[in-house]
Amino acid sequence: MSWVELQVRGLREEARDILGVELCPLERGALPFAWQAGAHVDVRTGDGLVRQYSLTNLADEGCLRLAIKREAASRGGSQWLHRHLRVGALLQVGVPRNLFALQPGSDEVWLLAAGIGITPLLAMYRQCRLERRSVRLLYFARSPAHVAFAERLAGDPAVSLVTGLDSAAIDAYLQQHLPVWQGGRQLYTCGPQGFMQRVMQRAIARGWPDAALHREHFQAPGQTSVRQPGELRLVLARSGREVEVMAGESLVQAAARVGVNIPTSCGMGMCGACQTRVLAGEPEHRDQYLSAAEQASGEWLMPCVSGCRGARLELDC
Ligand code: FES
Repeated sequence: MSWVELQVRGLREEARDILGVELCPLERGALPFAWQAGAHVDVRTGDGLVRQYSLTNLADEGCLRLAIKREAASRGGSQWLHRHLRVGALLQVGVPRNLFALQPGSDEVWLLAAGIGITPLLAMYRQCRLERRSVRLLYFARSPAHVAFAERLAGDPAVSLVTGLDSAAIDAYLQQHLPVWQGGRQLYTCGPQGFMQRVMQRAIARGWPDAALHREHFQAPGQTSVRQPGELRLVLARSGREVEVMAGESLVQAAARVGVNIPTSCGMGMCGACQTRVLAGEPEHRDQYLSAAEQASGEWLMPCVSGCRGARLELDC
């Protein structure tokens, strides 16, 4: 990995808990690399961590633009950047890498984002417009205050900003707005796992083939992967039940196996229906619903998508 030192030229609150960062070469020189939409960079934070962030802009601007969501449960990284970044500060940034590139061609592009998943898709949207390629962007967020880049996107007829929907409404929206696949169309989605699964299911139902479907496996920095069986014991205090969480299973699903029904709606960490009080254990937040402060308190968790950093989690249900 080769690193370059860039200077913070601008900071901006793009939405609630989302910090926009403009990074430029020192002395207004040229960047020593280029990139394509969908790329991300590694960033060394001042607390000794390395985090990955998608680039929201294209290389022709001569600087990098990132949008960093404050991840309360990350124990560093985004927290440090939100707290300590100042205009003029220097940051070590890796050369851009792209695991989520636009397929070349002139076919119509559909971009479906949720939450901070807008970051790579914003760059893709801009690249499509630059290439005069037909493009539609559907961007789902918890509320208008959580919509990043709203000034840029609002009023654009190719963009739909959708806020505050539950699962049924999202399904209905996709059913109404996602077209039946026609030769060449490509779809790209980025956001919480539950959201991307819903998009994929709806697209497949509308005849989109695998080769036309692309997803970014967005995961908040610092989060761990799915646990293996036996690594997490879920205690459901009010019901007096306990269960071992299986690999790939949500906490809601694990609770259901022992007869404890946690109410859900979206299943994607966006609507708030499953919000549950934490009695013991350290939550691993993966939702888009709780604020950074709520996540940091460790008091609440959205069990449809979130997990636990330790081996035991006790919930008030
Ligand atoms: S069911 Fe919507 S946030 Fe969990």
